[in-house]
Amino acid sequence: MEHVRGPYTISTDPRRLDESAVRRFLAQSYWAAGIPADTLRCSLAGALCFGMFHGTEQVGFCRVVTDRATFAWLCDVWIEEPHRGEGLGQWLVETVVAHPDLQGLRRLLLATRDAHSLYARCGFRAPTRPEAFMEIHHPDIYRTTAESPPPASPGAGAVARAEPPSPALAERTHAEQDLWTKVDGALEAWLAPADPVLAAAAAAATQAGLPEIAVAPAQGRFLEVLARATGARRILEIGTLAGYSTIWLARALPADGRLVTLEIDPGRARLAQENLERAGLGTRVEVIDGPAIESLAALRAARAAPFDLVFIDADKQNSRAYVENALALSRPGTLVVVDNVVRNGRVINADTGDAGVDGVRSMMDWIASHPRLRASALQTVGAKGHDGMLLAVVEDGPPGAGVSG
Ligand SMILES: C[S@@+](CC[C@H](N)C(=O)[O-])C[C@H]1O[C@@H](n2cnc3c(N)ncnc32)[C@H](O)[C@@H]1O
Repeated sequence: MEHVRGPYTISTDPRRLDESAVRRFLAQSYWAAGIPADTLRCSLAGALCFGMFHGTEQVGFCRVVTDRATFAWLCDVWIEEPHRGEGLGQWLVETVVAHPDLQGLRRLLLATRDAHSLYARCGFRAPTRPEAFMEIHHPDIYRTTAESPPPASPGAGAVARAEPPSPALAERTHAEQDLWTKVDGALEAWLAPADPVLAAAAAAATQAGLPEIAVAPAQGRFLEVLARATGARRILEIGTLAGYSTIWLARALPADGRLVTLEIDPGRARLAQENLERAGLGTRVEVIDGPAIESLAALRAARAAPFDLVFIDADKQNSRAYVENALALSRPGTLVVVDNVVRNGRVINADTGDAGVDGVRSMMDWIASHPRLRASALQTVGAKGHDGMLLAVVEDGPPGAGVSG
């Protein structure tokens, strides 16, 4: 079976599957990091697998464990980071639900930590009687395998031995993730209480089918605090989505302050504009639609006044170019904030093959040696897993130092 949408293909042909790509996806997941190679191979052989391809490169995956008559379990759903935000996850799950071998089943099940709205759009609902379900669950099973001592005699443990632990195997267990999510909930309740304007913006994003990649409420509040602490009057944001972080930041501005936000997707830019108008911030914020690199070049060409705070939260491949442009549009004292710089710990790995991770690493190298940037980064855990934020302050120096292009 093959389905084509633009440059993407979904195929169930097992010969097309790229096992090393699947292993790479799962190493980043919160549920199967550390899965041994043989267990993975077995799991692929025993399931109906769906690969998503961009040309010949595999960029997405999921598999269905099923008897093809009464029951199916959907799992290991993954879309590579640079391809997210285009509705590919929803297309993949819709393709699964429509697969001829999965028609007439009595039950199709899945478990998810944070993607309920995605699955809801494909027809899934919370179980009507959750109390009826029971399980034997070993959430730490791959971690246990990875930590077990190597086999005593050479070669004896070839089957049982785990892959060398990947950096993405961040010792994350379900219990830890649950705790991080609960703590985020408590911090929100204390420090970022329910807000109808922000809730409406988030709901509009969900309704429009946007992926859940906006900052969490506690991070939104953190951005607002940074903007207030720096007394920002002009803010630049790269990566708008539906304007959720934009609202947090714009609220910190004085009445005559200005926020410019850049978004490549015209539909998202429109939705953000609507959300900002509903939030009463329409006149304070300008949403510029188009590739950020081009919008930044236009701002530079127009000799835009320097920004006091720059928040970078778009495609990670271009992270370094975004910081370079932020510097060109800054003054001494400008604060540059870059989101998602830890990426489940994968930032320490030069061989992930993930353009987003490579982009962040290249940005880190550039910042580390830049004479006008003094930076640090904080690792974060929370409802969205393990990540981090970089903060850099622009220091005095020749305006063009280190700026290319
Ligand atoms: C993580 S989301 C931004 C989330 C938003 N800052 C928030 O927290 O509410 C990243 C956004 O960047 C946009 N984006 C990706 N590549 C871009 C590019 N080259 N130029 C401008 N925007 C881009 C995506 O369309 C997406 O809406």
